[in-house]
Amino acid sequence: MAGEIDLVRARIDLVDLISQRVLLRRTGKNWKGLCPFHDDRNPSFTVSRETGRYKCWSCGAGGDAFTWVMETQKVDFPEALRILAQQAGVTLSERQAGDPGKRTLYEQMMTSAVQFFRNALHRSSDALEYCKSRDLPEAVLDEWEVGYAPDVGEALAIHLQKAGFPLATGKELFLVDQDASGGYFDKFRGRLMFPIRDERGALVALGGRLLGDGVPKYVNSGDTPIFAKRRVLYGMHKAKDAIAKSRRAVLVEGYLDVIACHRAGVHEAVASLGTALGSDHAKLLRRWCEEVVILYDSDPAGQSAAQRAAEVLTDEGLRTRIALIPEGKDPDALLRQGGPAAVQRAASGGVTPLEHRLGQITAAPTENDFWKAAIIALGEETNPLERGRQIVLIADRHPTLRDSEEAQRWLRRQVAAHRRSRRQQLRSGQAVIGPVAQAGLAKIEEAVLLACLDPGLRGEAWSVLAEPDLFATTLAEAIARELLQAFPEPPSGVPATWLGALTEPTQALLGELGFGTVERVDAAVLHDAIESLRRRRERRSVRALRQDAESAEDERLHEIGARLKRLSGVVEPEVPPVDEFE
Ligand code: UTP
Ligand code: MN
Repeated sequence: MAGEIDLVRARIDLVDLISQRVLLRRTGKNWKGLCPFHDDRNPSFTVSRETGRYKCWSCGAGGDAFTWVMETQKVDFPEALRILAQQAGVTLSERQAGDPGKRTLYEQMMTSAVQFFRNALHRSSDALEYCKSRDLPEAVLDEWEVGYAPDVGEALAIHLQKAGFPLATGKELFLVDQDASGGYFDKFRGRLMFPIRDERGALVALGGRLLGDGVPKYVNSGDTPIFAKRRVLYGMHKAKDAIAKSRRAVLVEGYLDVIACHRAGVHEAVASLGTALGSDHAKLLRRWCEEVVILYDSDPAGQSAAQRAAEVLTDEGLRTRIALIPEGKDPDALLRQGGPAAVQRAASGGVTPLEHRLGQITAAPTENDFWKAAIIALGEETNPLERGRQIVLIADRHPTLRDSEEAQRWLRRQVAAHRRSRRQQLRSGQAVIGPVAQAGLAKIEEAVLLACLDPGLRGEAWSVLAEPDLFATTLAEAIARELLQAFPEPPSGVPATWLGALTEPTQALLGELGFGTVERVDAAVLHDAIESLRRRRERRSVRALRQDAESAEDERLHEIGARLKRLSGVVEPEVPPVDEFE
């Protein structure tokens, strides 16, 4: 399968493919045009035939031939592969193409089950009563195809059998199960049923809520041949157009929250179902937008879930805002109490994940704990602008350093020290590659990595990748390590044929280098870059030595200052000693 994907990638000319939709003009070794993903006035959309990647410098959209088809034709990966394989004249193996007979059966069976639940809802006064108590009018139930699974052992099983469906397939689809004697019974009983469609609108799963209290509150389809919960977001098929238009999604916690948001006019709302948000969910969102607003309950569970979701989203290159709702409430409750305006207001607010994290640690029991946690949070922020902004904001809280400039300097130094020690830890373990836009590779590092893409310079560039501490940024270092891991010996051929073996962020980043600030590398440029990296490495180690000496000095000065103040009668609150953070 991987072989087929590579073959398709190698045979597709990205410039030809994109030219079917966008007017491209040649500029140097790349092509440029107006970006089809946003309202572009100056051509900021760049395509490289050599790397097989495209990138918009204005809106951030980027990818390869597969993502291009996925995004412009709104299809999933297997479908994009089918489309491109056909254009490339590559025959896909059976498994890739899927068995169309079986797929139709799955589809028909799911549709039949949903139909059955829909009818059952209108025959159950309990279920209708419950919907009324939750303020779900008929039109909303219709729109979201809400149904009811009767509280009888095998109502659906009997219905499916009568309709001529094989129940063994129903078991595969998580609709029915078998008891010890082999008899079939329903998986969902006495539950309000929410059909789950994937982003293309295909019916893939179901979620069922008890009419009252009890456990488990929800039962969701397990993974089936047509459903992987880590890849599906509830509401995506209805939300995707709105998301593509506003370039942002709103992430909520549950089925009823998605429905409430859409009712309130927030049509970008989606939710992961019965599972925390994962990287596949984030990738799905990344196909339609650049920003995600996380709208969770502000109870402790909601807060930490929001923080985790933000990390996952950031890792996939999405900007994130955390917009929490007052404790104990979700968008569904908010709609009922505050009306559509309250939901809209909540969805348009929010703070950056770092701001949210700093807000949380304000509750730290002691001043010392606060600064310790704040320095860690600031140090882990990958975006230097955001880090700088928050350092300025919180430095003023320092209890003894009254001069804000001085407090900022102090904090900046602590954060830098923390980042240094973290980098050392990362160096020995697995590095994390942040989103490209925030990465900020040094220009000379770009030159070396760019040389890795050039068949003529690849050998020499490859030979320095393993040099210890050569790169100044953790990002370059991590990429070098990944390249060496994937190809201990330099690969041959144009990058489009081998980039596919790397992780997506690395592919994107290397692809973008071709459009970057370094226009051209030749042997001389590469040579200079390597020399300069080696010189910088030397300077770095000297500076590190000097800085360690300085901060020791600094601490003594600080201590003397504190003593002088105490002598003049000013009571000194406890100050975190500097080296506690190192
Ligand atoms: P919540 O407990 O917040 O429920 O779970 P809710 O969506 O607000 O539903 P109501 O308002 O109490 O009726 C949020 C989501 O977590 C998943 C469901 O997807 C749910 O919508 N969940 C929750 C489960 O999968 N199983 C459970 O037992 C509970
Ligand atoms: Mn709720």
